[in-house]
Amino acid sequence: MLKRILGLTAFAVCIAVLLNTGTITGGEKKKDKKDDPKYNNPTFVPTADEVIEKMFEMAKVNKDDVIFDLGCGDNRICFMAAKKYRARGVGIETNPVRIKEAMEMFEKYNKDDAISYGGSIKLPLVETRHGDALAIKDLKDATVVVMYMFPEFMDLWFPIAEKTLKPGTRIVSHDYSWTKGWEPTATATVKSSTRDNHKAILWIVPEKKKKKAANE
Ligand SMILES: C[S@@+](CC[C@H](N)C(=O)[O-])C[C@H]1O[C@@H](n2cnc3c(N)ncnc32)[C@H](O)[C@@H]1O
Repeated sequence: MLKRILGLTAFAVCIAVLLNTGTITGGEKKKDKKDDPKYNNPTFVPTADEVIEKMFEMAKVNKDDVIFDLGCGDNRICFMAAKKYRARGVGIETNPVRIKEAMEMFEKYNKDDAISYGGSIKLPLVETRHGDALAIKDLKDATVVVMYMFPEFMDLWFPIAEKTLKPGTRIVSHDYSWTKGWEPTATATVKSSTRDNHKAILWIVPEKKKKKAANE
């Protein structure tokens, strides 16, 4: 099984190089059991385009943003942001099948006539990373974090967000929230072709609380 996973990963890496697309990184090393992600639910339900548009609007995505998608699936969200705003994006995903789909997704979004957004993505604005979204070394670089993950993941991730993200960073989640964490800044209900009650939830990372002086 591991051989098959590594084979698929190597295949995806080759495709990335051949297409000179957005980059793909990670997954090259053989891993110990102890490196297995704490959370790895493979459920893949892509966020509908209408919901993604709303999430971008709520987060006020722009060309200066660096977007991290935690559990990126086919990484469509980062490709859309690159195409529409020329924002940089990093998608992190554990499932190599999804990584391969991300490479195919690049093809779709790089065709000038594929969708009505501006020009094609010529620069490697988008990175698709095979790895654990709870173990991202450069998360501090994010200005926007997006996700469509169950509350169980969000509860594991909240302490990481609290410790790592810069104040002002926007977090937007599709449908789910943590059970204990910051209160949302805004929420919206969005209609798609499949359902009319998607939730988009925005948080803005607050300033860090100052530690009280010992003699106070
Ligand atoms: C519901 S899909 C969301 C895909 C995409 N973000 C979207 O909204 O269209 C969740 C994805 O998270 C991935 N996943 C689950 N646990 C993960 C982890 N610890 N690190 C990275 N990806 C993970 C799953 O394999 C799945 O593809």
